[in-house]
Amino acid sequence: MSSDSNLNTKFPLWAPRPVEETLDIYANWAASYDDDLAEAGYETPHRIAAALAKFTTPDARILDFGCGTGLSGQALQMAGFTNLDGIDISAPMLDKAKIRNIYSRLWQGQLGEMTGITAGQYNVIVAAGVVSLGAAPPETLSMIIDHLAPEGLIGLSFNDPTLDHGSYEAVLDQEISLDRVRTLSCTHGPHLRQQKMGSNVIVLQRL
Ligand SMILES: C[S@@+](CC[C@H](N)C(=O)[O-])C[C@H]1O[C@@H](n2cnc3c(N)ncnc32)[C@H](O)[C@@H]1O
Repeated sequence: MSSDSNLNTKFPLWAPRPVEETLDIYANWAASYDDDLAEAGYETPHRIAAALAKFTTPDARILDFGCGTGLSGQALQMAGFTNLDGIDISAPMLDKAKIRNIYSRLWQGQLGEMTGITAGQYNVIVAAGVVSLGAAPPETLSMIIDHLAPEGLIGLSFNDPTLDHGSYEAVLDQEISLDRVRTLSCTHGPHLRQQKMGSNVIVLQRL
């Protein structure tokens, strides 16, 4: 992929779509995902890891929800986190993640479900670039909150197109108003540096 090309041209990423199309996109993207994201300057996973490190310990049990090829797990590992599991709905993305060998447990989930997870099992759930326009739908945030341990943390991102759409922040605002979570931090910064796209990196605590 040339440096002046655009990920959204190669893959029509940031738009609402049926979940089946999401699976096709990631199946087709798995082989070149890491190279494309390196070239695009993907910073959000490192920002999430750094934000979480302010609120929890390196041995926190973390689920990397929508782990993809493991770039988000790798960023967590680089920030010092040692206890990582990963789940994704895309088998081809998971095949890439396996090679990284950073997750204690890595498995394929089902759309709209937290398959293989007991409620309260994880102190921290990370969703880097997952609960976003073109990937998991807004209500996924509520599902993540449902499964988090009491007082547990969520580290997630909303990229600029997702923020512009409004539907994801609407679910977050509702969860805050229901006193299910509170915001510990929220900062806007680079998502894909080469494309000048930003994201909000948000740390939530379950109440
Ligand atoms: C942009 S990638 C992010 C992957 C990884 N977290 C990272 O930072 O590189 C989005 C991932 O979310 C997964 N995904 C999309 N929709 C999902 C859903 N409804 N439930 C769980 N995972 C989903 C995709 O398979 C894909 O691997």
